[in-house]
Order: sequence, then structure tokens, then C-alpha cells
Amino acid sequence: MNPVAATGLRCAYQVNPLGVAPGRVRLSWEFEGGDGGQRGYQVRVAPWRGQGRWAGGLASGEGLGWDSGRVDSAATADIRYAGQPLASGARYAWQVRVWDSSGQASGWSEPAWFEVELDPSGWRASWIGLGRIRLNFKPPTSLSPSDPVARALGPVPHLRRAFTVDKPVASARLHVTALGLYEARLNGRRVGDAVLAPGWTDYTRRIPYQTYDVTGLLADGENVLGALLADGWYCGFIGFDAKRAGAQYGPAPEFLAQLVIRFADGSDQWIVTDGRWRAAFGAIRHADLLMGERHDLALEPHGWDSPGFDASGWLDVRCRDRDAVPLVADPGPPVRVTQEVPAVSITADPAGRQIVDFGQNLPGWVRISVDGPPGACIRVRHGEVLAADGSLYTENLRTARQTDEYTTTGGAQVLEPRFTVHGFRYAEISGYPGDLDLRSAVARVVHSDTPATGSFESSQPWLNRLFACIDWGQRSNFISVPTDCPQRDERIGWLGDAQIFARTASYNRDVAAFFAKWLDDVADAQLPSGAYSDIAPRLNLDWAGAPAWGDAGVIVPWTLYRVYGDAGCLERHFGAMTAWMDFLERGNPDYLRSRALGNSYNDWLAPGQDLTPPELLATAYWAHDAALMAEIAEAIGRPDDAAGYRGLRSKIRAAFVEAFVEADGRVSSGTQTAYALALHMLLMPDELREAAAGHLVEAIEAAGWHLTTGFAGVGYLLPVLSSAGHTDVAYRLLEQQGLPSWRYMVDHGATTIWERWDAWTAERGFQSPWMNSFNHYSLGSVGEWLYRFVLGIDLAPGAVGFDQIRVRPHAGGSLTSARGSYRSVRGLITSEWERRDGEFRLRVGVPASVRASVRVPSGQAGEVRDAAGRPPAGVAEFPGAPGVMEAVFEVGPGRHEFSGPAPRRLIWP
Ligand code: BGC
Repeated sequence: MNPVAATGLRCAYQVNPLGVAPGRVRLSWEFEGGDGGQRGYQVRVAPWRGQGRWAGGLASGEGLGWDSGRVDSAATADIRYAGQPLASGARYAWQVRVWDSSGQASGWSEPAWFEVELDPSGWRASWIGLGRIRLNFKPPTSLSPSDPVARALGPVPHLRRAFTVDKPVASARLHVTALGLYEARLNGRRVGDAVLAPGWTDYTRRIPYQTYDVTGLLADGENVLGALLADGWYCGFIGFDAKRAGAQYGPAPEFLAQLVIRFADGSDQWIVTDGRWRAAFGAIRHADLLMGERHDLALEPHGWDSPGFDASGWLDVRCRDRDAVPLVADPGPPVRVTQEVPAVSITADPAGRQIVDFGQNLPGWVRISVDGPPGACIRVRHGEVLAADGSLYTENLRTARQTDEYTTTGGAQVLEPRFTVHGFRYAEISGYPGDLDLRSAVARVVHSDTPATGSFESSQPWLNRLFACIDWGQRSNFISVPTDCPQRDERIGWLGDAQIFARTASYNRDVAAFFAKWLDDVADAQLPSGAYSDIAPRLNLDWAGAPAWGDAGVIVPWTLYRVYGDAGCLERHFGAMTAWMDFLERGNPDYLRSRALGNSYNDWLAPGQDLTPPELLATAYWAHDAALMAEIAEAIGRPDDAAGYRGLRSKIRAAFVEAFVEADGRVSSGTQTAYALALHMLLMPDELREAAAGHLVEAIEAAGWHLTTGFAGVGYLLPVLSSAGHTDVAYRLLEQQGLPSWRYMVDHGATTIWERWDAWTAERGFQSPWMNSFNHYSLGSVGEWLYRFVLGIDLAPGAVGFDQIRVRPHAGGSLTSARGSYRSVRGLITSEWERRDGEFRLRVGVPASVRASVRVPSGQAGEVRDAAGRPPAGVAEFPGAPGVMEAVFEVGPGRHEFSGPAPRRLIWP
């Protein structure tokens, strides 16, 4: 028997987090061993008592904050802390032990810990800054020589405070944030590895802060705590609203920090931001997310963040008391440099400017190494694509300038920005002293550090490239919030894009903490009417209520619940979701969502004309919300609400059928999106589902086997086809090479997903520069189908947090093999299939504690065998293809292999 163990302990989806709000302490682990899975657990939590001693508290049971006792449950995630109140700023250790089905117990796990968010009384610091140093603010509209950007933006202050440490230090924590962006420094070293901290929220509603363990950075004697402070989302350029571009939340950046040093003798010392800090400007003349940075290295005050520096000429800071806006421990993953991408070629454009190609459209910046005489002025411009003549194409950036400039001081220097981010594949470098070679420049990839959880590989190289485009599109746009694009003057958290992509996102990467953070932004952006806004954080726009956009407020939390078992997020946002549902019902008492549609983007960017009636699309999404709300209410123990939402859904569904469905199963307008929504959202009367799916196929055929879906329908199209028995048609769309299609992008050099199907065409060249991003993730929502259908890795019906799975590969199209994996909250799931010489072979890996229903498609399902030669538990019709059978095996944890006669006709074309 496998030994039983609990490993991979996490709190609020983070490993040993240094700041968690008491209400968000939710624990999880992975169960290992024990063939029958976890049957029980016990958690205990104790205040930390100092290195080496804290485990004592756990072990003796003395002073425990919480002992769950043995709980008979298979749950391994979202275990809510239910003990003594947790103290502000305190550290707690915790452990878990588990029992398997035979009653075998594990030992206590290795302890993990978490530290609790500071409550308002835990803050003593004041906001500091230098005020606005900004002259003649004008939104930049051109790259004129007078450089309005440089005039519009201010230099980056350096802030410093010297202090003395004269006793042995036990521990030290730096709690830090900015209205703007900060880089904290202690004794000449950078604190932590987060960039673009503290991240983006609506700073008038909540301000995220980070906590770092800086014990190891302190020294005996003089110490210096410092920070660089940039405009960032707080007062730099964001979005497309140039009028407010320079001051969305306030006029000038401010910094807030407190360093709490605990000494071995039990005393403590607090260094907080206050009037004792000094400030000066340095090399960074401006730094802006959209515009880029300018460094004049001669102005760098070397050594400013270390002891012994003479700061006597530095300025006094302006001080402001904290107000009532809550400071919250950042619940999301930090933005980091996650990878370096080397240059692959250097060419010259017709004007002789050097263009470096990194081979991949990506979010981040370029680090260049130079060695030359002083006074070189190097300019790095970034773009996603090249114009036909080989020069950098920047028209589609609109007013975003994404340009970094450096004036050097000579000798060997490494140059890179730190408070900006660019979306680019190419960099035009001018003014470089000496020979620029491939080693002179490297692209640094910058985004929210969401660990990869999915993989996909098939026998079709182009499809593997599509998969890479989807993941790069996600990485490029998950930067503190899920943005639409990383390059032009937009980069904002559109809800519609996020909802259609959420499921794909959750397969590619662990986005539990990322979306949990953003859902707070979504709640903050909700209008008093209950309407969810179209973007979150909201900026100064009150656009709200748009169908398929606002609905993200229900769809995304529900997705997190299904995928991660995150009921905490449902509880936190149930009130907001209810307000949204009330808003919709108030506006539409006849249960047709035809009013209060806000900006109604409808099936945004559907190729050709968007013919789906807006009230059809809106009503479908509303019915879907109601169905999900019923499940959500059920999940958090509100059966009355659940019944209410079930009732609401039947009324909306009836109104939908009455208004849009004909007796023969046709749906008004007959667009692919109309059918995809009606089928996905289970709005068709049961007896008309098949007919409706048939009409969908006719609509696809009539479009020459092309899709015609925009953002609101695209993610549902292929799953709907497969679920309705038309996997062959789904593959036909997937493998379509002509416009519009995914393959068209890939065949034409895409390395990320385009915003528009026809962002570039051989006949016409680029789409209108006013809206033509080469890095938008929405159309990449086909990723969900690759995982759920091609690999077949899916939740079992009704399952939560992958506690039960179904592996049902829809092998088809021209694929002869596919393999991939998904690291769920329960552990790694793998699927690998191959058809060769008339045989179909499937290998499946199932994590401990999980049961899988494996469905092997076959020509003679009764002949399929597992590795031990055992026959299937049953045979059934394969739903992805009428006439195909599947062999059904119910299996537990471990690796399994199956083989049998390949299906002869059916899903293979
Ligand atoms: C954005 C989209 C967004 C849309 C709403 C565009 O400008 O780039 O991604 O969803 O506006 O209509």
C-alpha cells in the first residue's frame, strides 16, 4: 500500500504567504498515496513562537489557534480557518494529517505558515512624495521633436531614510506600497523580485500592499531604506482616455512603508515613512507604463541607497496622513520577470535603423548591454510587427509610445527600464555605440507570475504553435489585471474578454489567486445600480451593464469554483452578484434582456457583420447567469436563493424560446453565435437541441466551413459542436486554413493571438491601425476545447475542484496523436493518445484521491482492454460522433493504459 501523505500546503493559493486577510485564510494541500483517496483530514494552526520553537505549539496542542479535529471529508482545498481570531501581522504555523479509505493515517505534514494582514491599527506610516513635478501636461499625439511625453511626465523620485541597528535582529518585515509604482531598496539591494508593485486596483477603493521578509538584508550599524517611486497606473498614462491620462486617481505618486524590526531581546524598532525621509531625483527622467522610460545616467546619485552616502543636499518630502481607504495585503501573485528571450536576428530598415527580432510577441522590455564612450543616446522603440519595407510598424499602438531612451556615461553598462511594460516582438535600436550583435539585447518577459499548469502537443505542428500563441497571449495580458492587450493605449481589464477566456486561462496557468484579486476589482467597479462595469478597475468611465461583459461578474467566480473549488470567492461576491441579478431583472421585467444593455458590444468583432440580435445575446447570457447563480447559491448553503434563481432561469428561458426559437429548432438570425449560446446555455427545449445543432452546422457550411463568431460566442462554438455530436465539424473549423480561422493567424506568423481574425491579410495588409492588436487573448478561448475535448481532460459533470474527472479524448481531424497535462488542485492529470495501424492507444494519469471515468473511442468498444487485459466496465455511444462507440473504464489514481481497434469512420475525416 502506498504511504499516505499531505504535501504542497498552500494558504489562499500561495505558499507561505506573508500577508493574508483573516477572512481569506483558506487552506489546501495535495493528498498522496492511499489508493482509495482521502477520507478524512485534521488541520491544526498555532501562533508561531520563533524559529525552531513554533512546531512545539503545534505538537503539544498548547495554545492552538485552531484544531479542526478529524473531519470525514475528501476535501483538500478551500478549507476555511475556523479558530481563534487571527492577530494582525502575526505569523501562524499550520499542519495537516490525512486518512485514506482504509483508515490509514499519514503523519503530520511538514508545517507551513502564513502571516496575517495588518489591520488599520497596525499601520503607523504616512504617505510621502514630492508632489507633482509636471510641466505643460498635454497628451502626446505624435512623436514630435519637442517631445510632449517627456514634458508631460515627471522624473522618478528617490526616497531614503537612514537608521541605526544596534542589537541582534530576530526578524524584520517591510510592509510597503505606493500610489504609483515602487521599487524598495535596503542597503543597496533590491527588496524582493516583484516589479510593477503594488499592482493595479481602484486606489480610491483599496490599496494593495506587499510584505517582504528583510531580516537578511539588515546590517549592524547604519542602514538605509530607500525607494524609487514612479507614476504607474495611479497617475501615469492608462487606457485611451487621454484627457485624464495623466491623473486617473491622483496628481502625483506617493509612497508608504514601514519596516518593523524585532530584536532578539524582544524589543522592536519601527522605521516608517514620515517627515524624516529625504528625496532627490536621479537618472530616471520619466517612467510611464504606456510611454516608456528615459534615463540620463549621468544624473544617477550612486550609492544613494547605501550607508555612508551624503544626502545633505536632498529635499524634504511632503507628508500626508493615511485616509480611510483600506490597505489590503495583495491577494494576487506578484508581477515578475519570468523569462529572458534572446534576440534571433538583426536587420536594417530602409533608413538604416537596426531592428532586433526576438521571435516572439511578448510583454516586457529589452535589456541592452553597451560598452562605449560617454554621452551615447540610445533609443529603443518597440513594435509587434514590421511594415512591408521591414521598418518597425507602430501605427497600431495609437498614442502609446513604448519607447525607452538612455544617455550613457561610458564604459560597460547594462540598460533596462523598470516601471514600464511594452508589447513587442521587434525593437528598433538607434544610437547604439559600436556593433549591435545578438548578445547586445535580450527581451525580459514581465507579467503576473501565474505558474504554468497545462501542456499540449499534437501531431500537427501548426496546432502546437496555436497552443503556444494562446499561452503567450495569456502571459502578455495577465499583468496585475486581465487586460485586453499589452501594447496600445488601452491595456485595461475588459470583463468580456476575461469571461470568455477564463476557463482556458485556468487550464494554462494557476490563476486562482490572480482572478481572486481581480474579482475584488470587479466588485469595486460595480455601479450603485448593481450594474457590473465593462472594465475593472473602472477608471473614470461609468460604462456598465454590457451583455457578455457584465456577466463576467457571475461567470468568472463560478469558473473559479468549478476549477479550484473556491467557495470563498463565491461567498465574498454573492452580494455583488445578487445586486447584478436584481439590476437585470429591474430593467427587464418581461424576462427579455432588451433594456439596460449599456454599450452593448454584442458579439464583438464578429467577422463580417455582427447579425446576432443584441437582445438575444443578452437574454442568453442572463439565463446563463441565473443558472450559475442557482449553482452558486447551492454551493454556499443558500437553498432558498438557489430555488429563486432556478425559477428566474425558467422564466428567462421561456421568454427566450418564445421570442427567438422557432418550432423547427431554428434560432432568430441564424448566426453561429446565436446557436452556440442557445445550446451552451441550455436554452433550447430538449426536443429541439438536435435540430438546433443541425442548423448550426448548416450555418457553418453556408459560411464555407468558416466560423463567424466574435468575442461573445467564440469560446463556446467548438465545445457546443462536440457536445452535440459534431466533433467532425469542430475539427473542420479548427483546421480551416482560410480567413477567418485560427490557422490563418498561425500560418501568417502569429506568435500570440490576434485581436481580429483579419489583423493582417495577404491581400489588404494591416487592418485599421485604430484597433488592431496582435496580442489579444479572447479568440484564444479555443484553448478550452483543446484541453477538454482534444486531450479530453475535464471535470466530471457536477464535479468541483477536479475531485472527479472524465477523460474522453475527441480524437479527430488530421491528428494522429495528442498529449498533454493539467496540474489541477488535486494534482497532475495526463492524457496521451495515438492512433496507428488501426489501433487506438490511450494513456491516462490520475492524481491521488481522484476517480476518473475514462472513455476510449473505438470501432469495437467491447474489444478495448486496459494494460492488464481487462475489458471495459461498459460500452456506450460516443457523444462526440454519432455511430462511434466508447469503452468505459472507471479508474482510480495512477497511470493507466488502454488500447483497442481505432474507430473506422466517424471522427476521422
Ligand atoms: C478592447 C476589447 C474590448 C472591447 C469592448 C476594445 O477596445 O480592446 O478587448 O472587449 O473594446 O468593446
